[in-house]
This record gives sequence, structure tokens and C-alpha cells, in this order.
Amino acid sequence: MSTSFNHVYPVIWQDNHVLLIDQTRLPNEFDLVQISRSDDMAIAIKEMIVRGAPAIGVAAAYGMYLGAREIETSDRDLFLHQLEAVADKLRATRPTAVNLFWAIERMLRVARQTVGQVDYLKQTLLETAEAIQLEDLQTCQAIGDHGLAALPKTPHRLRLLTHCNAGALATAGYGTALGVVRSAWREERLERLYADETRPRLQGARLTAWECVQEQIPITLITDSMAAHCMKQGMVDAVVVGADRIAANGDTANKVGTYGLAIVAQAHGIPFFVAAPLSTVDFQLTDGSQIPIEERDGREISHVGDTLICPTEVEFYNPAFDVTPARLISAMITEHGAIAPDQLVQYRDRQVV
Ligand code: MRU
Repeated sequence: MSTSFNHVYPVIWQDNHVLLIDQTRLPNEFDLVQISRSDDMAIAIKEMIVRGAPAIGVAAAYGMYLGAREIETSDRDLFLHQLEAVADKLRATRPTAVNLFWAIERMLRVARQTVGQVDYLKQTLLETAEAIQLEDLQTCQAIGDHGLAALPKTPHRLRLLTHCNAGALATAGYGTALGVVRSAWREERLERLYADETRPRLQGARLTAWECVQEQIPITLITDSMAAHCMKQGMVDAVVVGADRIAANGDTANKVGTYGLAIVAQAHGIPFFVAAPLSTVDFQLTDGSQIPIEERDGREISHVGDTLICPTEVEFYNPAFDVTPARLISAMITEHGAIAPDQLVQYRDRQVV
């Protein structure tokens, strides 16, 4: 895989190690970080060098292989036991994005079910990580195309609004919400994308804007608090966002701010779409109240870059995600097409496990 601008791959397997685009440094610097050990992959996920639910899943899958490679025993049972410890370490990085747990589980299952010696198990784990990555790329392309069919038919080209970054950087390389935007742009159905800056970590300003600029997709950056005004002005035809975890009833956790956006969209009669692969659905959870919400350091709120923007005496509450109730979601755009949130359970058997 290459890193040309039309094909941004946040996770690259090359010469026996992983290269990650350092998403904490974009857009000012384009750096690749080399990861050769599972410990370093866990740190990279926790510190958001790689972020976005599907990309975290791909990174964790390679992290599992790197961990497997570090295990020295040729005893199969001992190997599987030590692989569980690698899984625990990777699971402890970020709690909300279910793709992390889904990918780790899939790697563990493959290791348990593969017949053969430890070296063969290791090779099979690498092939599984590569398969997870390739599948996500194909899945996102399908999501993009299904999204085109689901978007409203308007006499003019579409003005879409998104939150956070659900683009190539957040997946294996095409994007979910931004995959829909990409497909609309390719088919000449897009006039403009409005991107929320996405406080506090600015994934919209730093990452979504960067991706769109690489491909000359027309993009207008707004602060999160401007979305309602833009909708009221008739500037937005539809909202498309990604997801970190979707409960069986369609309640959806995504970057904090998504819930407010969904309420505002409904108030203005604007369709609100969640674009996500089926691997983001956690069928074990009946509703969104069971989704664990990551809380991050208050420094993300108190500082913009290195600059302190508030008195040091205040307290902080910094949930990284919120849950949008299914009733506010017009449709889930998946690799199987657009699905009404209350129909999601019908697709349980189609989830790759
Ligand atoms: O904290 P982040 O940057 O990992 O959060 C990312 C999001 O909330 C994305 O919208 C979501 O993971 C979907 S990515 C296709």
C-alpha cells in the first residue's frame, strides 16, 4: 500500500512492521511512526496516533500479530495463554470503539481454531490482520456507494455536513461518512461539505479538512456551535457521521457533539445518516445506555495546543463520545445498504465474526 494523497492509508504493513500516519501531528506535519512491538501499538492507540473506530480495529489486529511474534514458546497452549495477555493489553487502550474488541476477538478466535504449530498460527494471524484491513477498505467503498442511493434527491448538488473525522484516516483507507462524501464527489453530486471543527481534539479541522484538501473536495470549516445556524439558513441538505459503537436497537455512540447535531437536524427536518460497517454494531448491547463512554484528560479542554485558555482552578468533564438515540437517525448506511435503525437486528447473522 502507498500513501499517495488519493489513497491515504493510516495503517501500513511494510517490511515486517507497521507504519502509522501520526494523526496527532496532522495537518502541520505528515509523519509515519514505525511500530514493531505490541506495547508500542497499545500506546499508539491510547495516544490517538491512530484513531477512528475501524482504523483502531485494523491497528489492534496488527498489534495482536506483533504480540504473537514476540511470544517465544513453541507450546501451543502456552502460546494461546500468552496471546490472551496481549489481547488484554490492547483492549485496555480505548473503551468505546467496538471495532477494537471485535478485531481482537477475531484474531483470538483464528488463533484458537487454526490447526498447526505455533509458527503457522503466527503466519495465519498476520494473514488475518491483512484480511481485516482489506475487508474494511472494500466495506467502506460499498458504504460510500450505498450512501449515494440513500442521500436526498435535490435539484441542486448536495451540501452535506459532518462531525469529527470518519474518513480514510479513521478506517483502512476510504472512510465511512467521508466515504459517502467521496462517492458523492466522484459522481458529481456534491456541492460542498461543511465540517464541524470537533472540539476538543479538532479531528474535523485537522483531519477531515486535510483529507478533503488533498482531493480538492470543496470544504467549509465551521465551529461546532455554528451547525444549527447553518441549517436554519438552508445551507445543509443532510448530515452524515460515523460511529464508534452501535447498540442492537440502533442507538449510536460517536464523537461527542453528534447527539446535539442529530437533535438540531431533526428540528430543521434535515435527514441524519450514520455511516458504519456492521463490525461497529455491538449486538450484545440492547440499547445505547450500555455503551461505555471514554472520558479523557481535562487538558484537552483547558488547552488549545500548548496555550492555556481557562483559569487553572476549574474542574473538567471531558467525555469523548455521546449517544444519539435511534429515533433521531434517518438510516444506517452499511455495506449492505441503508438500513432503518430498528431493522438492524435482522442483519446480525451477516456480521463477520
Ligand atoms: O476519538 P476518535 O477520533 O477516535 O473518534 C472518532 C469518531 O468518533 C469517528 O466518528 C468514528 O470512529 C467513526 S470513524 C469511521
